[in-house]
Amino acid sequence: MYFHGTTKVNEKNHLEIGGVDTVNLVQKYGTPVYVYDVALIRERARAFKDTFDQLGIKSQVAYASKAFSSIAMFNLVKEEGLSLDVVSGGELYTAIAAKFPMDRVHFHGNNKGKDELELALDYNIGCVVVDNFYEIELLQQLCMEKNKKISILLRVTPGIEAHTHDYILTGQEDSKFGFDLQNGQAEQALIMTLESKYFNVLGLHCHIGSQIFDSTGFTLAARKIIDQLYNWHNKLKYFPPVLNLGGGFGIRYTDEDEPLSPDSYVKEIIIEVQKRTNYYHLPLPEIWIEPGRSLVGEAGTTLYTIGSSKDVPNVRKYIAVDGGMSDNIRPALYEAKYEAVLANRPLDVVEDSFSIAGKCCESGDMLIWDLPLPKIVNDDILAVFCTGAYGYSMANNYNRIPRPPVIFVENGEDQLVVKRETYEDIIRLDLPLESKINS
Ligand SMILES: Cc1ncc(COP(=O)(O)O)c(C=O)c1O
Repeated sequence: MYFHGTTKVNEKNHLEIGGVDTVNLVQKYGTPVYVYDVALIRERARAFKDTFDQLGIKSQVAYASKAFSSIAMFNLVKEEGLSLDVVSGGELYTAIAAKFPMDRVHFHGNNKGKDELELALDYNIGCVVVDNFYEIELLQQLCMEKNKKISILLRVTPGIEAHTHDYILTGQEDSKFGFDLQNGQAEQALIMTLESKYFNVLGLHCHIGSQIFDSTGFTLAARKIIDQLYNWHNKLKYFPPVLNLGGGFGIRYTDEDEPLSPDSYVKEIIIEVQKRTNYYHLPLPEIWIEPGRSLVGEAGTTLYTIGSSKDVPNVRKYIAVDGGMSDNIRPALYEAKYEAVLANRPLDVVEDSFSIAGKCCESGDMLIWDLPLPKIVNDDILAVFCTGAYGYSMANNYNRIPRPPVIFVENGEDQLVVKRETYEDIIRLDLPLESKINS
């Protein structure tokens, strides 16, 4: 079994994360519960950032907060000196509440609302990543009304397919995101925005997909964009100070996954951008990236209590946990794979394979198929690894199941950073029927 970060087995044969015994965490906070290894998040943040700094490359590493956003997480991102990518008014509002430096906030999205853009302008965020022509008009109108100038990046689709699951591909031509680089739309958007006195055009952005295991997609995208920038440099006399190559750096969910290390991704990107800009005698732009999953994914573990079981003779043994697609929808959505152990006795001898069912009323609510585990007894605790990205952030109240709490652990201490939802929370927004029937 592969353990990430500070995760290990202690002398009691219990799983320990951040120096904290997970069995004690369960006694204190109940299950399901998300546990984050803060030291691992810091290590990843530094690995990305330090690689740029050590090579003397101007950069911004923006945490793609859709992977996991909460006030404490944003506080941590600020402590580590990263920037922040938000994609909605809700994420932006969380950044405001976390007192995140607004000049390091980048706002993404293919359909930003007027109220969301107004919030961004009122708080003077670092830049808006403009996605489409509608947004150019809307943002310009709002800037005019507020008499403000805003820094922008233009999101382009460079026509690169990253080798990963289809559902999480975003950089190919047929995408809902961005201006197409090949068909002239990106050039039209660039000309429009350069001509406007309300925009400071910082440069281009692309995001080619997610859970990408090698650097080829990133370097190809960089090359295509710089080729285009060379044309525009000649034609429009414009060269942008910033090139943002997005996120998508892969992580190890199971031993089938073999991602590069953060510094390898960064080095290969830098080499390509240097090579291509040198070739055209262009200046080196600042390089920005937006890792989400690779900062928090491996740092998260979900602890569940095992409850019911079902044996289908000669077919499969099911065991059910007290969560499921309500706290981790990725297996149902993407057929995502995870590894897991019994947190209360991870080194016990494996007896059989068990398929881990969630508790939601959906046959598709299966977390892991055919997981080797020791003989199960009541109240065993299952630790599912690598749930730190798109777990809590995609959690939902399907079947009116309250969302689990989030605990940060570091140096032997635990801290509650998101409370468990209660049944009162579940009905908080409900209003009774105003009955029109006289009884
Ligand atoms: C524009 C953009 N940047 C960054 C990311 C983060 O991707 P990942 O979590 O795979 O690093 C995403 C994910 O969808 C994205 O759409």
